[in-house]
Amino acid sequence: MTSAPFRLAPGGTVGIVGGGQLGRMAALAAARLGYRVHIFSPEPDSPAAQVAAAATVAAYTDPAALESFARAVDVVTFEFENIPADSVRRLAEIVPVRPSWTVLETAQDRIVEKRFFNGIGIATAPWRAVDGVAALEAALAEIGRPAVLKTARMGYDGKGQVRIDADTDAAAAWAALGKAPGGAAGSAILEGFIDFQGEISVVIARGGDGAWAAFDPAWNVHRHHILHTSTVPAPIPAATATAAIDIARRAAEALDVIGLLAVEMFVTPDGLLVNEMAPRPHNSGHWTIDACLTDQFEQFIRAVCGLPLGSPRRHSDAVMTNLIGDEAADWLDLLRDPEAHLHLYGKAEARPGRKMGHVTRLHRPGGGFDEATMI
Ligand SMILES: Nc1ncnc2c1ncn2[C@@H]1O[C@H](COP(=O)(O)OP(=O)(O)O)[C@@H](O)[C@H]1O
Ligand SMILES: [Mg+2]
Repeated sequence: MTSAPFRLAPGGTVGIVGGGQLGRMAALAAARLGYRVHIFSPEPDSPAAQVAAAATVAAYTDPAALESFARAVDVVTFEFENIPADSVRRLAEIVPVRPSWTVLETAQDRIVEKRFFNGIGIATAPWRAVDGVAALEAALAEIGRPAVLKTARMGYDGKGQVRIDADTDAAAAWAALGKAPGGAAGSAILEGFIDFQGEISVVIARGGDGAWAAFDPAWNVHRHHILHTSTVPAPIPAATATAAIDIARRAAEALDVIGLLAVEMFVTPDGLLVNEMAPRPHNSGHWTIDACLTDQFEQFIRAVCGLPLGSPRRHSDAVMTNLIGDEAADWLDLLRDPEAHLHLYGKAEARPGRKMGHVTRLHRPGGGFDEATMI
């Protein structure tokens, strides 16, 4: 079946499922292009709803709320991918949903995701699906230690992960995982621990016409399993950057993504290994707001609405630093640097580990790394 390419003219309403900071920044980008945004989120006064024209506050599984949301918008996309299949199906019966369920389904489950990447010839850490202590012990015998045990679903910011060292008891590791979000389902993945040189990510946009545009790979440093900084350019050779973009493009094409795909990778002496992906704007792409001709949020809206993609060209070097928990309380000091770009997400309560905002500092292009500091 072929149909005319979908295009939503400015003035239309973009529905975004999820109410966090990614939805907030996407809503701001949509507003700049003349769209109205309607947020669907279980959280009242969510960061995204604060800047949107309309909001539905309801559970992701509420059929009546999903139906009236779908009827109130012209296209639906997601800033959060852990949406039940049935909810996405209900939405898609009424309104175009981009990206499609296949993409969300693949990104929701680490086992499906790894199988997908390996299936298109893209390397990952060695892994085994495990569903209990016996399977975990067998997988450890094959993969060896150290290793990382992760819940297959619902993990984020290092939640739902247990590192298994030489002396870690498999039964204890399995029990610890059971207490994490998604752990109760009993489906998990064991990954070999990668002694990487660093972590990078690529955010790629792809339109319904197959056109794509990728941002420069960002160099990501985590603290307490939460992204701390993203730096561009990444201190990697040009060939590695090209290979990373090629991986993101192949994945986006194989999944027929319409929207954004962010792919996280480990840089190793033997090449790149994909860690995970997300079919939406990504924390490691926030630097694009201040350092690129078109940022990830505008590119997301353009792709979802069937508009031509903008140029992802980077005009400055940049370092994006996340403000976690109390760190956003320093907003006045951060603003005292007149060249710092401060972004706050409107979250009332600064819980530990919560992403409250970010700050991006730009530098003259080419001022970053020289060959000697490269990986
Ligand atoms: N197999 C692995 N080997 C080494 N480090 C890992 C491995 N898997 C995850 N990590 C580390 O933990 C971080 C978070 O893991 P990730 O799978 O990206 O989960 P999430 O971002 O959903 O919490 C990664 O960015 C990386 O620093
Ligand atoms: Mg990750």
